[in-house]
Amino acid sequence: MSLLSRRSEESLVAPSLLSCDHGRLAEAAAALEEAGADMIHLDVMDGVFVPVLTFGAGVAESVSRAVSIPVEAHLMVQRPADLLAAFADAGCDYVTVHAEVDPHLDRLLGSVRDLGCGVGLALNPSTPVEVLRWVAPGLDLALIMTVNPGFGGQEHISHLKAKVSETRELLSGCGREAALIAVDGGIDSTNAGELASCGADVMVSGSYVARSDDPSAAIESLR
Ligand code: DX5
Ligand code: ZN
Repeated sequence: MSLLSRRSEESLVAPSLLSCDHGRLAEAAAALEEAGADMIHLDVMDGVFVPVLTFGAGVAESVSRAVSIPVEAHLMVQRPADLLAAFADAGCDYVTVHAEVDPHLDRLLGSVRDLGCGVGLALNPSTPVEVLRWVAPGLDLALIMTVNPGFGGQEHISHLKAKVSETRELLSGCGREAALIAVDGGIDSTNAGELASCGADVMVSGSYVARSDDPSAAIESLR
């Protein structure tokens, strides 16, 4: 596994492939690496936890073979425990599960750790930050959703920047300063700076980067 380190001077950028051509995801990932991406964000959707169905571990394997930067699998699925090993074997560096799907989060996150992957926990907009507290020691990445998950291109929920600040405070209070905070949903150059100043380290961005004529400039503008 290859994990990212927090940077104090600039944000890390993790483009999501959700808004790219799904017939050419590996090529899209390689092009995004070339354009300066720090990590590739894979939106795995099961059609149950969220209405849409995207792709599975086979695609994750093709993508991770095509890049040398870390790959994160963001599992928007109802039963992540069944899929963890497949995404770990596919070469994903981080596996991020949703806090809303399993009452036994400590065990679920421990399984991600045991598979040798970076441990990510995603929180829907309505999920309180407090859910992170007692699993924080085993956490590498907190993914704060700034839209309701399921679709690319949605409007960013701007009041959630306060949740990012609260997350940073909680992680610092738990001695987990090194854990990354990622924000995901409607991230673009108009909101990335403010989110970074609230404590976000990783800007996940789908449609803003995918729709840009110059992905390299779009990625740079998110830093
Ligand atoms: C939404 C996904 C996001 C999505 C972001 O459910 O988790 O990663 O790709 O896309 P934008 O940046 O368009 O909101
Ligand atoms: Zn995502």
